[in-house]
This record gives sequence, structure tokens and C-alpha cells, in this order.
Amino acid sequence: SMVDKGNHKHFMAKEIGEQPMVLGQAIDHYLSKDGKSVNMPGNGLDFTKINRLTMVACGTAYYACLTAKYWFEQIAGIPVEVDVASEFRYREPPITDGTVALFVSQSGETADTLAALRYCAGKADSIVSVVNVPESSIARESDLALPILAGAEIGVASTKAFTCQLTVLLMLALKAAEDRGALSADALAQHLSDLRGIPGLINQAMGAEAHIKDVAQKLSEARDILFLGRGRMFPLALEGALKLKEISYIHAEAYASGELKHGPIALIDKHVPVVVMAPHDELFDKSISNMQEVMARAGKVLLITDSAGLKEGAEGTWQTIQMPQVSPVLSPILYAVPAQLLAYYTAIAKGTDVDQPRNLAKSVTVE
Ligand code: G6P
Repeated sequence: SMVDKGNHKHFMAKEIGEQPMVLGQAIDHYLSKDGKSVNMPGNGLDFTKINRLTMVACGTAYYACLTAKYWFEQIAGIPVEVDVASEFRYREPPITDGTVALFVSQSGETADTLAALRYCAGKADSIVSVVNVPESSIARESDLALPILAGAEIGVASTKAFTCQLTVLLMLALKAAEDRGALSADALAQHLSDLRGIPGLINQAMGAEAHIKDVAQKLSEARDILFLGRGRMFPLALEGALKLKEISYIHAEAYASGELKHGPIALIDKHVPVVVMAPHDELFDKSISNMQEVMARAGKVLLITDSAGLKEGAEGTWQTIQMPQVSPVLSPILYAVPAQLLAYYTAIAKGTDVDQPRNLAKSVTVE
């Protein structure tokens, strides 16, 4: 079917704006009728027998996997290995007993991811995929394919597919936790009720759009930009940097905040904006002290946090963006939105081709 941009200037803007709707649909799809548990087809996937989850993907889907590692390990107690498909497929990694291999791909056709899947077929206990295109090769060759229900994504830079991937992966982690007895019924119901609040919180976050546009105008003057995050916000820092470089062509890289002192701090001077993604969670104090190390070297900090975080951490920053309060577990899903909007408006300020960035393809089906 034909997909058009509606009133939007770009598919990317349209797809960012669709997130509350498509996330709501994905959540409903996998939620039990009473809203208290996760309803997913089993297809032989038994979480009580899993010793290890191996997740493989490329690009943005890889960062969804990195985020999900925090969820599967912290909530479900399952050890997780994550790798980019192009490395995984040639490394000859041993697949030990009780390994489930999970592949995440918007298109379901990425050549390296498909090759990694084929490497695992017959070795892993089960092949699971999280895909946007249910008729794709990756979906067809999986024992269990979970659709993310994002709808067609046209913009080369992935937005709604990323947050839908995160949502489905979190629900899978919650299901795994329930099956393994790692989560009480009450705690599970609470997580799911928080998750149902996400579309509304994203709508609220979109309220910062005009301000983010102003901040992006300033960011567009930078030559290099650093993204910092810790814990489950670290993969999101990586995704924020990827999004920005993909469409604005500004050099951006991301580090785990705690690694700052092991190298990237040497790059900091008054010309380098540093985007710090730090909701007021259990690691907030650590993030703030990393941020102060940046400011002590004249680095320009753009702090993205909530009201509690602003109260404690705004002093001395260059710019701030306020997000609504969110359950810490869900923060990567919500904070994806300011990361997307920053990249989008920085690219607009630079005048680049947002939907069709140079040298990039929506789906890389050859090696
Ligand atoms: C390309 C796209 C990225 C995408 C990656 C993986 O590089 O430009 O946006 O994240 O492929 O694609 P997949 O379809 O496997 O998720």
C-alpha cells in the first residue's frame, strides 16, 4: 500500500509522531485481557530452560538489543550476550546448551543478521526474531517471530521501529521473568501498568519539540558531539549519536559515562557539546558527577532529564531538556524521543536530506 507523509515535511517526522499510537497498539497486542500479564505465542520457547540469550542485530536494532540486555539480566536473571551480526557470523561463537538466539531486524532482510540466524539454526535451542515485516526471511526462518507492529517505516533513520522493538523486547523480558518466577504477579502488573502509560508520556515529551528545535539550531554549529549515558541509558546514548550522525553528518560518538575518564575526556573543550541523558534514577548521582567533570573542562553540557533531575543537576549546564517523570525501567523508550527530535532538527538546521541521507540504505540486503 502507498504510504504518504500526510501533513509532515518528512517521513521521519511523521514516524516520530506516530509513536504514541503504534506503541499503544504493540502493547495492547501482547497484553493479556486483564492487563496483568504478557500474552505471547510460545512455539516451544521455554524460558525456564534457558541458560543464555544471544542477541544479534545491526544498526539501530543492535542498540535495541543492548538495551534489552539490561532488562533480561536485571528483571529475568538471564545472562545475555549481544553482538553485531557482521562480527558474530564469522567468529564461530560456540552455541552452548540452553541457548536461545534472538535476532532483531526492522526489515527482516539484513544480510548479516540473516547469516547469523542461519549459523545458529540447528545449534541453538530456539531461534526467535523480533521483526517489523512478518513475511520477511528472518521471520520465516525463525521458530518464533514476534512482530513489532510499527507499520511501514520509510525514513532511513529508524525511529518508531526502534521504540516498538524496545517495547516488544521489554514485554518478552517480563514474560521470561514471570515464567522463571523472578517477578511477583504484583510487580509484573505494575511494570505493565507503567508501560501502558508510555504512549501518554511520549505525547507529553513531544511538548518539548519547539524547545528541542532551538537547542538543535545551536547543536548544528558543532563539529563533534559526545553523548553520555549510564546503565540502561548507555545504549540510548549510542542510538542518539548514531541518529545524529546518520542524518546531520555531524561527528557524534557515545560513551558510557563511567568511561569518560578513560579517554574521551581528552576531547572536551568549549567547542564540544556533550549530551547527557540522565533521568533521576538510581545512577543519577554518578551521571551528575561525570557531567561535572565535563563542565570543569569547559565542555557544554546539554542535560536531558526530568524535573527532579533538573532541580539537582541543572546548575552550570549549557542547555537542558525536560522529560516527564517515568519509571526508570522504561526510560530508554521515553528518552528515545528527544534523541530522535534532536537529530531531526539538527539535520533540518544543516539542510541535509533527512529521509534519504547520503550513502545509507534503509535495508542492507547484501554483505
Ligand atoms: C540499515 C538502516 C538502519 C538499520 C539497520 C538494520 O543500516 O539504515 O536504520 O538499523 O540497517 O536494519 P534492520 O532492517 O535489520 O533492522
